[in-house]
Amino acid sequence: MKAFIQTLPKVELHLHIEGSLEPELMFELAKRNQIEIPFDSPEQVREAYQFENLQSFLDIYYQGANVLVTEQDFYDLTWAYLQRCKADNVIHTEIFFDPQTHTQRGIAFETVINGIYGALKQGESELGISSQIIMCFLRHLDEDDAFKTLEQALPYKDKIIGVGLDSSEQGNPPEKFAGVFKKALAEGFKTVAHAGEEGPAQNIIDAEEMLGVSRIDHGVRCTEDRKLVQELVKTRMPLTVCPLSNIKLKVFEDMSQHNIVDLLRKGLCVTINSDDPAYFGGYMNDNFLAVAEAHPITDEEAAQFTYNAIEASFIPDEKKALMRELVTDYVFHYPYEITS
Ligand code: ADE
Ligand code: ZN
Repeated sequence: MKAFIQTLPKVELHLHIEGSLEPELMFELAKRNQIEIPFDSPEQVREAYQFENLQSFLDIYYQGANVLVTEQDFYDLTWAYLQRCKADNVIHTEIFFDPQTHTQRGIAFETVINGIYGALKQGESELGISSQIIMCFLRHLDEDDAFKTLEQALPYKDKIIGVGLDSSEQGNPPEKFAGVFKKALAEGFKTVAHAGEEGPAQNIIDAEEMLGVSRIDHGVRCTEDRKLVQELVKTRMPLTVCPLSNIKLKVFEDMSQHNIVDLLRKGLCVTINSDDPAYFGGYMNDNFLAVAEAHPITDEEAAQFTYNAIEASFIPDEKKALMRELVTDYVFHYPYEITS
């Protein structure tokens, strides 16, 4: 099972690029940009990553992002993430970025988007990894700020496929952003939203009804509403689940308590993702392996997570068919193709 997972083709749909900032790169960028950070070494940074809940993580996470200043910094950050994708056989990734985290500090929107986009294009040509960019609004800020951010994104429509909603879920329900999501949909953006991570199942329903989302990020608290679970089976509304994140942020006590395999077997379109891998202890393979270790699954079930992610992705249909074939070939020929 372990070897099968390691080389299984994967598709990632829930990754905050700022959350892939490893402590070593944080130190390098702090030095490059002459920014003070309150740590003496990368090891000390890692030791500080003990979280009680989402908010305690977000406080440290926004602080870490301060070392990102130039287009080259955003490029280097994204390029480092793509190397991890290559190592884990991620063939397609749809990544989030939080423009407000940077524009609030005086960094231009174009600096951020051009750095990320440049690395993704190189990832496509040199590493064969396709990708999309989703811009998230920070839900602890007000809707006016989100409107301004949407305005800034309009000249980059060709580089940004959709908008999302992240940061503190509690106290910031989907309805707060109904207006700006309506505008984003009218401008042709796809929409997604974090919901049912720390917030109630009702946030999942509201994200669907008020924000017109194509998928729900996290969504694991759907199990608190049986009717909603039945609906999710019927509609195949995707949930981009992040197992290691959920343990680190204490959404579940430990991996044996996690509901992802149960949801898979019920027929929901659940996917495995890494969220903020530099903070939560691992990239795609680590997440797959942690799930498989706590919940024995068959090779076919592991592959189903990839089939679900292909279904849930914003990849054009013809390309989806090719990716499904790639996965089917892998399952069918395993282990011969990797041992020969
Ligand atoms: N921003 C980065 N990671 C997040 C998460 N897991 N939930 C909400 N906002 C986030
Ligand atoms: Zn997230």
